[in-house]
Amino acid sequence: MSASSKMQKEKESTTSAAAVPAWLSQILQDKAPGPKIYRWTPDDVAGSSGAAPQRKKRAPADTNRIFIVGMGNLGRLFAASLARLPDQPPITLVVHRPGLLEQWRAQPGVVLHPQGYVEGAASSKDVRIADFDIEMWSETPPPPPPLQDAAAAGDAEIPPIANLIIATKAQDALRTAEWVRRYLAPDAAVAFAQNGMNKLWPPYGALYNEARYADRKRPPLWLACIVTHGVYSVGPFASVHAAPADVVLGSVDGSISSSSGPGGNEAYLVQQILAASQLKARWAPRHELWVLQLEKLVVNAVINPLTAILRCKNGALFVADDALNSAVLPRVIDQLLQEASAVLRALAQHEIQTGSIFADAASTVEAEADASAALAERLSFASLRAMVYRVGELVKDNSSSMFQDAQAGKKTEVGEFNGWIVDMARYLESVGATDGKTLDVAAHQIMVDLVEKAVPLTQEELGTHFFSRSVRLDL
Ligand SMILES: NC(=O)c1ccc[n+]([C@@H]2O[C@H](COP(=O)([O-])OP(=O)(O)OC[C@H]3O[C@@H](n4cnc5c(N)ncnc54)[C@H](OP(=O)(O)O)[C@@H]3O)[C@@H](O)[C@H]2O)c1
Repeated sequence: MSASSKMQKEKESTTSAAAVPAWLSQILQDKAPGPKIYRWTPDDVAGSSGAAPQRKKRAPADTNRIFIVGMGNLGRLFAASLARLPDQPPITLVVHRPGLLEQWRAQPGVVLHPQGYVEGAASSKDVRIADFDIEMWSETPPPPPPLQDAAAAGDAEIPPIANLIIATKAQDALRTAEWVRRYLAPDAAVAFAQNGMNKLWPPYGALYNEARYADRKRPPLWLACIVTHGVYSVGPFASVHAAPADVVLGSVDGSISSSSGPGGNEAYLVQQILAASQLKARWAPRHELWVLQLEKLVVNAVINPLTAILRCKNGALFVADDALNSAVLPRVIDQLLQEASAVLRALAQHEIQTGSIFADAASTVEAEADASAALAERLSFASLRAMVYRVGELVKDNSSSMFQDAQAGKKTEVGEFNGWIVDMARYLESVGATDGKTLDVAAHQIMVDLVEKAVPLTQEELGTHFFSRSVRLDL
């Protein structure tokens, strides 16, 4: 079956099975064009001194301008890396709090400390990059400029967006793309940089595109970046690039040739990301990107919630330092992995048989059988377990972002990681992809509940949520 007929079939099966998740059904009901959004510059905020705002000209609407929304760790990594390109593209950093514009006004610049900073071997002087425009985007217009500055102030509505990097947390990513939809240019490229599965993968991407972009020749080019760099924050606009690694970039969208990458105007953002040497990015075909994102999801769905619940560093999950630890944690990890493996294998099987992701990769029945067997092996419990323990060893000295968010009382990404696995199990059952069987995802649901409760637990307390009392007494 051709890729396009598989995409059509995918769309039909999603709609007919009534397996539309809440986030998508809300979008399907909302036919509005998207809100008007205005840009505030540092000159639009009075500052702590109370000085009157001075209005300078807003950044021009170049088609090669790259907007980065979300100026946290990955936003800073992408900004600093793109700014170091020999032919630096114009870049606008987009924030959502006026305080950040004030902070920028007081001390402009993004700081990405090198790895050596951790050992005190680098100074921040060498790494501050201020060659950016910065804006806060808001549905409230900025205050009108003083009369004499009105002509110079330019249009306060945001310009058309041709190149967008969304570097928010996973739960804010699609919401951000939705929010700015009115401004996405006809050949826009949008790169998502989150952990977790991108929401625009099958089975929902085609439905989303049809709901939002049916009136266009084509939807924006949706790109996903799988980022393995480790970056942590040391203040506003300042992070440490503690663990340089790489980025795998590819298209979530089935409508472009996935092995060679996109052509046309939308290729510009891809070229810039690939050329930014600090990112160490490479292009991956769609099916490879999908599997890599699934594997990263599994790592995140094991390490992040457990470290958040137990409030411990990553390495503490994998050391058998006492009898209790050796009994409880490996069993919890194994249960999470068994469940994840069953769901991902069912999903992969379903995708190979009915979906579009492998249509290019496996065009014959034999190739399809080979791909199916290889994928089943890659997503087996044993392979996933070996991968999680391998990664756990590599990142043993780090604190996961979910642990840090839990400690800071912030919302976590658990709904996008473990919650996604639970939702996917229900989706697969609803479309008849599990031979009538129920996929057990109880352990992932427990992770979601415990992380959202935000009460730290000991390992023994964690065990009580998983194992019956008689089993616990045997430990
Ligand atoms: N850090 C890493 O080493 C790393 C590595 C690989 C993958 N990741 C993944 O990458 C994603 C981002 O991680 P991160 O560490 O960069 O998170 P982060 O430091 O929390 O950055 C996210 C930023 O987005 C901002 N934001 C949220 N909504 C926004 C909006 N509507 N407009 C503008 N800004 C908005 C947040 O601001 P407020 O906090 O003020 O709301 C925050 O500054 C996550 O999915 C993470 O799992 C991170």
